[in-house]
Amino acid sequence: MNVLGIIGSMRKGNNTEALVRRVIDEMTSMLPDEGAASELVHTPDLNCHPCRVVCHDAHCSKKLYHCSIDDDVMRVLEKMMDADAVVLGAPHYFRAPPAGFHAMIERMQSMAFFYEATGHSHEGSPLVGKPCGLVAVAEYSNPHVILEYLHDFCLLLKMKPVELPTFPYLGVGGHGDLENDEIFHPFERAAELAAALVAVPCL
Ligand SMILES: Cc1cc2nc3c(=O)[nH]c(=O)nc-3n(C[C@H](O)[C@H](O)[C@H](O)COP(=O)(O)O)c2cc1C
Repeated sequence: MNVLGIIGSMRKGNNTEALVRRVIDEMTSMLPDEGAASELVHTPDLNCHPCRVVCHDAHCSKKLYHCSIDDDVMRVLEKMMDADAVVLGAPHYFRAPPAGFHAMIERMQSMAFFYEATGHSHEGSPLVGKPCGLVAVAEYSNPHVILEYLHDFCLLLKMKPVELPTFPYLGVGGHGDLENDEIFHPFERAAELAAALVAVPCL
């Protein structure tokens, strides 16, 4: 299984990465025969411009998942298309997702939105049904805000966000000190999310 981890934190090796890695590691341990080959994409390594919007008439409104800006967004999109599953993680920075991460999300949302808004069908979308696990961390706010943001993104791109039977339902949340988080239990939920991902029938 080919799993792509996308880490929206500006701090490599920190909390968001720890939980995304844990989900992927748990998936690997649940697939002893085939394993889970994984690749991690870090937002600070990417060159991602925000959406220009005014160019949509000539580009993404006409051609499915095609943006005229030549930067890393199209390359990340191709990795998402190639992956069997995506684990998407982001922190809460200043009451929002990090700006660099959001630039990438905004561009992908624009490609999906403008194509659909001009009356095109999304049936041919290369991301339809792509299993996606969500991870969000915060310090004093509720990480559920970021989980909702990531969940909306997945729905707009027609992916399949994998939910949990237990709180916070939309994915793994982490609040403050992850090892001692008695509310969100992030490492337990990471194992549950991994199990839910490997149980998706198409995987
Ligand atoms: C620049 C910055 C802004 C932050 N703003 C918020 C915030 O608005 N709400 C919150 O709950 N936590 C905030 N935090 C705390 C982070 O959400 C928390 O430390 C999280 O674990 C960061 O993930 P990371 O370790 O992957 O960077 C902020 C942290 C940083 C570095």
